[in-house]
Amino acid sequence: MSAKEHTDVYTNDPDEYYPGIRQRSRPGEAPKEEIFEKTQDAYGNTVSDKPANRAILASQRRRLEHESKLKAQQEQRLKSQNNENKKNSIWSYIPIIIFIPLLSSFLTQTYTFGLSQYYLPPLRRFWNETPLNPLRPTMKIFTPQELSFYDGIYQDRPVYLAIDGTVFDVTANRRIYGKGGSYNMMAGRDASRAFTTGCFETHLTHDIRGLNEGELASLKHWKDFFMNHEKYHKIGYVMNPPLTNEDPIPPPCRIAEPESEGNSHSTGNGQHAPGEAAAKKGKHKPGPVTQ
Ligand code: HEM
Repeated sequence: MSAKEHTDVYTNDPDEYYPGIRQRSRPGEAPKEEIFEKTQDAYGNTVSDKPANRAILASQRRRLEHESKLKAQQEQRLKSQNNENKKNSIWSYIPIIIFIPLLSSFLTQTYTFGLSQYYLPPLRRFWNETPLNPLRPTMKIFTPQELSFYDGIYQDRPVYLAIDGTVFDVTANRRIYGKGGSYNMMAGRDASRAFTTGCFETHLTHDIRGLNEGELASLKHWKDFFMNHEKYHKIGYVMNPPLTNEDPIPPPCRIAEPESEGNSHSTGNGQHAPGEAAAKKGKHKPGPVTQ
């Protein structure tokens, strides 16, 4: 050993070589030392890409790939099992779906236990009015004169009537609303008042001023009747002339008429107006309509 004190253990200087003392280099400074790129392992950690690590990294990747493959297979199996179950449950309902209408047809001569009258009209109404229906009928606006054109007198024209401003096509019941029909006086006009009072001669007007709560309820009842009727269709609105304070409220027909049973079913002009009799007795929802 020279007199010079050996202090730098990292030196590569041959003069600095001393047998027995291990020569070392500072990291990254050795002449042939390879510096490896950094890489990421399968869990996202930054590690050296040195050969010693590569086998471990590859095995890590393989293990993760295998695990995700197994997971995907399991999910696929679960999905197909669910589909199978769904298919089975649909098929098991089919006999019931067929049986119920048949039972209904046997018992009530209808396939829906006679309930279609309750849900079909609202469904039809919704379909006729929803913007989702590209073929929905456009609502017409009538003047009272235009509406009177459809008063049921002429066979070649449809029959319309209005109630509370809404016009309905009642051609399906020409027998009732057409020429000679028992309610022909209601066709071609908005006779809302007569619907509630039963005064089929004097109350053929849209004027519903002065009606009491029961009469207004009766008006709503009749409107719903036309709205929900299987064969009638809402086709538009009538622009009734506005009423002013100068227009007198029609007087009640019951007080004006003498109490006689004999002429109660006839209007005197040969037409049958059954509501007249009911009105005299104070009945507001007579006839075929039940509540
Ligand atoms: C406020 C009183 C009344 C009003 C507003 C009224 C109104 C009506 C209306 C609008 C119809 C037609 C229903 C439809 O389109 O299917 C009708 C039918 C009928 N009403 Fe009245 N009604 C009244 C009183 C009466 C009374 C008291 C009787 C019985 C005497 C009666 C017997 C009938 C009959 C038999 C029908 C069926 C007509 C047919 O199918 O030819 N109504 N009523």
